Amino acid sequence: MSLEFKHIPVMSEDIDKILAPYKSGIYIDCTFGGGSFTKKILSEKNTRVISIDRDDFVESFSKEIKKNYRNRFEFIIDKFSNLENILKERNLQNKPVAIIFDLGLSSFQIDNPERGFSYRQDGLLKMTMGKNNISAHDIVNKLNQKDLRNIFSLFGEDKDSGLIAKLIVQKRQDKEISSTQELAEIILRAKRYKNSKYNKVDSCAKIFQAIRMIVNQELSELYKGLISAIKNLSIHGKIVVITFHSLEDKIVKKIFDIFSNKTKGTSRYLPESNKNENFNILEIKDRKPIIVSKKEINNNNRSRSAKLRSAIKIQDHSFEFKRSYLNLEKYFQIEEICVNK
Ligand SMILES: C[S@@+](CC[C@H](N)C(=O)[O-])C[C@H]1O[C@@H](n2cnc3c(N)ncnc32)[C@H](O)[C@@H]1O
Repeated sequence: MSLEFKHIPVMSEDIDKILAPYKSGIYIDCTFGGGSFTKKILSEKNTRVISIDRDDFVESFSKEIKKNYRNRFEFIIDKFSNLENILKERNLQNKPVAIIFDLGLSSFQIDNPERGFSYRQDGLLKMTMGKNNISAHDIVNKLNQKDLRNIFSLFGEDKDSGLIAKLIVQKRQDKEISSTQELAEIILRAKRYKNSKYNKVDSCAKIFQAIRMIVNQELSELYKGLISAIKNLSIHGKIVVITFHSLEDKIVKKIFDIFSNKTKGTSRYLPESNKNENFNILEIKDRKPIIVSKKEINNNNRSRSAKLRSAIKIQDHSFEFKRSYLNLEKYFQIEEICVNK
């Protein structure tokens, strides 16, 4: 396959610093994409990598890697929310020494107009990363005005969410909204009407990203993936997560906080009734995320919102974690409501 689109890996030096020195053992790359992190890990001696991606488009890249690392590399097309089953099915003798999440989209997805992710190119409204139940077309044409407004205000933080939702519902009474450009035009019409000082790129990007997050159930995926990673990691194993959206970072921060409650007493995020539960499983070096350097942003503008958090597993014991501890139920519920409508 010709590589028309190229994905530049984000924060790879920071990831490398966290993972080094590379121990022998199993590494899980939950977001294979162009395979840069997978390749780097495989280039270290005695490592084994299981890579996951929900997008079957990237399978061909995995075949190239397989040629050089037949016995140490496996690629699986699946969602990382299924990590626990993926590991169980393999009946591994040892638990993974590191689990990596590099969230969001690869350039192979964003830059391909046929995938319908970008307002910059005309394409059918899809935004599916792979293994989806719904598409952007369903969201835009089937949800009621209130759900649309909620998606735009909660996930896109757009102050004109109500008007954008209203214009979408009006427009689709004439005919279905099928293309990225039709949707972008409606967003910009709402902005012009409000006469707000708007930035075309930001306005469209936020609404498109909000829809994409619902289509791919990105917050629930992250929550399920992270909890499985914490359960299944080996002692001294590392979890590394790169996020691109403030809600994603919030989920990672809260989960890491709750599971590393040793140093600062019980996490402030836990409800009173659960303060005595033992979630002391991780250690985090820094409560603040690592952010991208100016140099990296200059080389790759798409990295600008990336934040990296990591943790080390220090103890292993079973736990019962409830999603509601994160106090983000309204976001998870919108994802659920929209996918079931
Ligand atoms: C930012 S790219 C990863 C790039 C990769 N680290 C590299 O350097 O080439 C994110 C990838 O994760 C995949 N992905 C996103 N959410 C996923 C999920 N819930 N399960 C599995 N793969 C997912 C996307 O399809 C995409 O290929």
